[in-house]
Amino acid sequence: MTPSARSVVPPFHVMEVLRAAAVRQRSHGDMILLCVGQPSTPAPRPVLDAVHEAVDAEQLGYTEGNGIPALRETIARHYEATYSVTIDPDEVVVSSGSSGGFSTLLLTAFDAGDRIVMARPGYPAYRNTLHALGLDVVEIQCGERTRFQPTVGQLEELVASDGPVAGLIIASPANPTGTIIDPDELAALADWCRQHNVLLISDEIYHGISYGRPTHTAWEFSRDAVVLGSLSKFWSMTGWRVGWNLLPEHLRRPFDVLQTNLSICAPAVSQHGAVAAFSPEATAQLQRHVERYAVNRQVLLDRLPALGITSFAPPDGAFYAYCDISHLTSDSVAWCADLLEATGVALAPGIDFDPVDGGRFVRLSFCGDTAALHEGLDRIQAYV
Ligand SMILES: Cc1ncc(COP(=O)(O)O)c(C=O)c1O
Repeated sequence: MTPSARSVVPPFHVMEVLRAAAVRQRSHGDMILLCVGQPSTPAPRPVLDAVHEAVDAEQLGYTEGNGIPALRETIARHYEATYSVTIDPDEVVVSSGSSGGFSTLLLTAFDAGDRIVMARPGYPAYRNTLHALGLDVVEIQCGERTRFQPTVGQLEELVASDGPVAGLIIASPANPTGTIIDPDELAALADWCRQHNVLLISDEIYHGISYGRPTHTAWEFSRDAVVLGSLSKFWSMTGWRVGWNLLPEHLRRPFDVLQTNLSICAPAVSQHGAVAAFSPEATAQLQRHVERYAVNRQVLLDRLPALGITSFAPPDGAFYAYCDISHLTSDSVAWCADLLEATGVALAPGIDFDPVDGGRFVRLSFCGDTAALHEGLDRIQAYV
């Protein structure tokens, strides 16, 4: 017996880096992880208090498949307050992280063989999940010229040369680049998708973490789009596994039925805690993390040129700098391994995000401690 062909997806090279980092930490105790994609902070205090209360007061059995009403109402109000978009709580479906919702969405919206477009570089789990679910991944190479985001012009060219597509996944702020799609371009992408009967999937899980450039939700421009949200990043709650989809009417019921079959519901205790994540007290705490990310981002902008790294995607949001290191290597996997061995600094090789050109890029995460970031950059500087 062999595993299915669909399960054969490339490993995350950054996991190899993390394995080597754990070994190094045991032998040297000096690791600086600049490769992780999650905040270094716990959930905000009101969430922890709400969880204590829920553990004492609630049964914490299965919840409604689409999420507890209190959480769906809170998320709907969040969109009203943040983007002036009025949302019915029934349009919100809570999932186990945005990842759980993403695979359910793909199964709900597409059939095997449908062609789905995404940017390259892009979040690798998207490419791999599409592959595992039998969908055809169509990557658009996005570089500096388009701020690492796909454009209507590129979609036009793609369809003219390769034929129609069924879906488009965008992420703004993006992983690994941090770039944000401006509202006129987001509106144009939403229009193009509507005109071409293409489902727009807008990954907005880094919203809340941006540095001046405004973020807009795709639902300001099209209710035919699907919006993915998550408590993982701004809310500093990766392990709690709470995400959501805003779904157009025709997908809501089939998504709900499928999700209930596949995973029943998102974790009950996390859903109860999640309601408190949107409170003013929690928001104030979380804003302080964003202030630290902003300081760290400035440290990078100031110091990267001294490392000879003058070309990187403009980090409008999220907490990543995607850096061109072609003057140092064309094999980012080997370079990251060597860097780690020599200095104890862990970076993510670009090949995880871009199987074609990623050999000359690394992703540097700046969501940690500012002093550690300085120390990591000192060591990289000495190394290069
Ligand atoms: C762009 C992007 N989308 C989705 C996810 C998955 O997040 P979640 O924790 O909500 O499943 C990540 C995680 O790093 C990400 O970077």
